[in-house]
Amino acid sequence: MTEHVAVTDNGAVRTIRMCRADKKNALTQAMYTAMAEAIAKADADAAIRCVVIAGAPGAFTAGNDMEDFLKASDSDGHPIAKALDFLRALARGRKPVVAAVDGLAIGIGTTMLFHCDYVVASTEAKFLTPFIQLGLVPEGASSLLAPRLIGHQRAFALLVMGKPLDAAAAHGAGLVNALAPPGQADAEAAAAAAAISALPPEAVAMARGLIRPPADEVVRRIDDEAELFAIRMRSPEAKAAFTSFLARRK
Ligand code: COA
Repeated sequence: MTEHVAVTDNGAVRTIRMCRADKKNALTQAMYTAMAEAIAKADADAAIRCVVIAGAPGAFTAGNDMEDFLKASDSDGHPIAKALDFLRALARGRKPVVAAVDGLAIGIGTTMLFHCDYVVASTEAKFLTPFIQLGLVPEGASSLLAPRLIGHQRAFALLVMGKPLDAAAAHGAGLVNALAPPGQADAEAAAAAAAISALPPEAVAMARGLIRPPADEVVRRIDDEAELFAIRMRSPEAKAAFTSFLARRK
């Protein structure tokens, strides 16, 4: 359990909210575990028809916690094991997922969106994946899903060059379904989730399965990327980047 993730049900909609605003919702191991569990439990609960992933005003999430990254780079076991549990749960989840992005969506904050079915973003939202700048490689099956969704060139600029997408560009690229004024993304996402929940659930599940790539293929890519990610996490380049971010705060 962590106080940094709040899971609430409103009718048939389960909202999973990242609540670590003082750290821009940087994701800890405990947060990944709580989010993976909430998705798995939603899957097992026939009363839940849609899941919303939301953040804090101005910060959907600043991505993986850098302190955790640095600690994990020297640990035994897979350095991003908990993040992988969350990503696999998302990839295999059977309930439609809506995201409400207000503000920053960095790293996994952007790559998790490639698994979502409907994304609402505020006009102030910004999408950024500085994997290469950090000495890492893209994760979360983004190397498979991003080119499929937004095209190779946009995916290269985002995932390899680390160029940010602003809200309008993300909307134009097809990553975002709908733009909302700042502070309104939650409400718009809730409305979309309610609309999805009102549809016949078995037909939704079948149609969703048809339009998504096979979950096994997505999970295989998550795992392939994760092997390279683990190697990169232990590289001097990545350790220097984590250390430099953490040193900048002092
Ligand atoms: N991990 C750990 N802490 C983080 C964090 C992260 N990914 N992102 C932000 N924080 C913390 C900051 O260290 C700071 O903590 P402090 O108040 O104890 O010093 C707090 O959140 C606020 O962040 P700050 O950097 O002061 O705010 P900002 O508005 O100037 O910048 C960001 C916000 C998100 C642009 C900047 O913090 C950032 O670049 N974070 C790293 C993002 C990243 O590379 N994530 C990994 C992707 S793979």
